[in-house]
Amino acid sequence: MFPTLTWYVACTADEINEKPLGRTICNQAIVFYRPQPGQVAAVEDFCPHRGAPLSLGTVCEGKLVCGYHGLEMGCDGKTVAMPGQRVGGFPAIRSFPVVERYGFIWVWPGDKTKADPALIPHMVWYDNPEWAYGGGLYHVKANYKLMVDNLMDLTHETYVHSTSIGQKEIDETPCKTTVNGDEVVTSRFMENIIAPPFWKAALRAKGLADDVPVDRWQICRFTPPSHIMIEVGVAHAGHGGYDAPAEHKVYSVVTDFITPETDTSMHYFWGMARQFNPGDKALTAQIREGQGKIFAEDMEMLERQQKNISAFPDRKLLMLNIDTGGVQSRKVIDRVIAAEQAVVA
Ligand code: FES
Ligand SMILES: [Fe+2]
Repeated sequence: MFPTLTWYVACTADEINEKPLGRTICNQAIVFYRPQPGQVAAVEDFCPHRGAPLSLGTVCEGKLVCGYHGLEMGCDGKTVAMPGQRVGGFPAIRSFPVVERYGFIWVWPGDKTKADPALIPHMVWYDNPEWAYGGGLYHVKANYKLMVDNLMDLTHETYVHSTSIGQKEIDETPCKTTVNGDEVVTSRFMENIIAPPFWKAALRAKGLADDVPVDRWQICRFTPPSHIMIEVGVAHAGHGGYDAPAEHKVYSVVTDFITPETDTSMHYFWGMARQFNPGDKALTAQIREGQGKIFAEDMEMLERQQKNISAFPDRKLLMLNIDTGGVQSRKVIDRVIAAEQAVVA
């Protein structure tokens, strides 16, 4: 079960052009398409004639044309026409609220009368010359909550990402978790340490020395349904750490939009927004490649973890102090789902 009265990232804006895109979100097969350039629509990926996926069809004059026998579907889920047929009595299929914003297509999989575009989280870095952003999409064969656990407990970096962002001081420094309403924040501050390879490269890119001690921070913020923004960075030690003036630090936000596909798979939209050297496109590409490799390491771990869990569904798992961020985030998700059920009941 998933929260459904909420916006999920369905795809990046460039994934749909003249061709429709079929994608399952929260166990619902949906087809996304552009009736006209600059517009976006989404309906069930199920032709009312014989159940063919409409995503195998084409878009013609604003209508989605089924690739099997030519039924023409409208954005509202009502059949507009079909060669040689009267379509007035054809059953409608579901349509979904969709919004294009910040380079993403957002979808609201639940009751469409409750969809409010004002609830889409604001992204300060989008189209902002003070920021640079790069990101990607991974399809991960694991339940989306495993990714929430992963991102709300960065202790794993020491082991999973030992060659890039991991270091033993992460393990040695306790993290702190707070819950403010629906937001869960897990933070860790490490002082007077040597930067790991990823952050050394970032310091060099900004023209800062990479061989002096730094203060490092990780502040993970979860908000429902499953968005996690992680403030990360390092500052030359002794300048105030997280609060250090910009000239002494490199700072960025790891952006994670986690969209459930099925009970055991997800679409993971990852990225990084940074404030240093925002005009340096080569650096954006380099960071994106590095981050892609780091998240591929997580992906392998999560997919194998899901296989284990699926094979032994009754095994109880431990909940240690390092797991608090994930545990609290899961509680928020459970609460959101229960509130939705209460409305329906
Ligand atoms: S299945 Fe779509 S037109 Fe026949
Ligand atoms: Fe990771």
